Amino acid sequence: MSFILPRDRVYDLIKKQRQERSPGRAPGAPGLQALVLGGGGREYAIAWALARAKSVATIDVAPGNDGMSVFARLVDIPPNDVPRLEQHIAAARIDLAIVGPDDLVAAGIGDALRRASIAAVGPSRAAGRIEWSKSFAKEVMDEAGVPTASWSSHPDAVAAAMALEGRDGPVVVKADGLAAGKGVVVARDRSEALDALASATISKGAVVLEDVLEGDEASLQALVDGEIVVALPPARDHKRAGDGDTGPNTGGMGAYTPTEVLPDDEAQDTANALIAPAARVLAKRGTPYRGVLYAGLIRTRDGWKVLEYNARFGDPEAEVTLPRLEGDFGQLMLALGEGRLGAYLAERPLRWSGRAYVSVALCAEGYPGKTEGGAVIEGLDDLPQGAWAFHAATKRAGTRFVTAGGRVIHIVAGGDTVAEARRLAYEGAARVSWKGRFYRSDIAASGGVGVA
Ligand code: GLY
Repeated sequence: MSFILPRDRVYDLIKKQRQERSPGRAPGAPGLQALVLGGGGREYAIAWALARAKSVATIDVAPGNDGMSVFARLVDIPPNDVPRLEQHIAAARIDLAIVGPDDLVAAGIGDALRRASIAAVGPSRAAGRIEWSKSFAKEVMDEAGVPTASWSSHPDAVAAAMALEGRDGPVVVKADGLAAGKGVVVARDRSEALDALASATISKGAVVLEDVLEGDEASLQALVDGEIVVALPPARDHKRAGDGDTGPNTGGMGAYTPTEVLPDDEAQDTANALIAPAARVLAKRGTPYRGVLYAGLIRTRDGWKVLEYNARFGDPEAEVTLPRLEGDFGQLMLALGEGRLGAYLAERPLRWSGRAYVSVALCAEGYPGKTEGGAVIEGLDDLPQGAWAFHAATKRAGTRFVTAGGRVIHIVAGGDTVAEARRLAYEGAARVSWKGRFYRSDIAASGGVGVA
């Protein structure tokens, strides 16, 4: 039988511990105890960035994956089990927690962490609604005056199907709620739209219909602390499973930064135009945002428009953008989590390196559908210098790693140009294999800065 302290006692304990530690800690001084929530490639990248920060003493990841265990402690707690999380925060004297996946934001984990009075990077459930309700996101965009596709919202798939009567052009069909990357279909005509509405994921709840936009896409993540919005390096991801953007949508088959479509030197202005107005609306509604806010953007003939907001780091965008950040990532996240991002960056402006990074997702046979785990992974010790394996779904089996999910490992490589980083990432990807592993061969093949 496990002994659980009453919640008030846990909160008091955490507060007391933080008060004892924090005043003595000069900015940048070592000793931060960090907790990352989630267990995929994005969380690997966050933990990896923390591991390079001088201020960070310990990194816990709940639940993490076995690949992270070389530099982080895996905590066997479901990250949405708030009482156990609070007990762990008290016992391990956690200062800072970073929320990875969208479902944890929607479950209100950001609120729970703040109630425990630690620094929390991750919005409240109310502010995170900008991702977990597509109709709410569109309302915010309209109120903020952010350019986006025309849209309509419907209580269920039947009502959406009726709204499509007499309309036969392409249309985007979106499940209003979270759908593990399966909730958006770009239908070429009414018949495809009706099929989408009948699909297991979309038929279950409210639906948003949108006009289709054409243009080049970019991913722009920003640190948002109330009305303060600071851009991170822009990136591009590749969502379809197959080369040439064919096949089903996935969580992301690879990414790269910098990009020609949204150059680095336009990132902050673009964030000011397309992310800051939404942050202001959330603050005005009494639900200020604190965390990473990611805008999926498209450059149309009429200029940039917002496709969607995500209430977290992108995956696999985090894997390529975090390696570019300079300075102490632990202190940066602590300042954001404590709501003093503006003051922190006034003294230490955020800088990124000019280096390019490319990630290639190595996937298990069947992804994004059902996959079987347990295949032995070969070649992890044979990566070329400058390429890393960011584990997303691996398990240890004796001295080896085996697969444990769909996107198994992201090979991440850096270079002076995207072309150089790409060559190295693909050299690494070719050396790591298991039965049935596949990857796209055209990640970053065009549109990067310095792509040959
Ligand atoms: N790369 C897409 C996402 O993180 O949702």
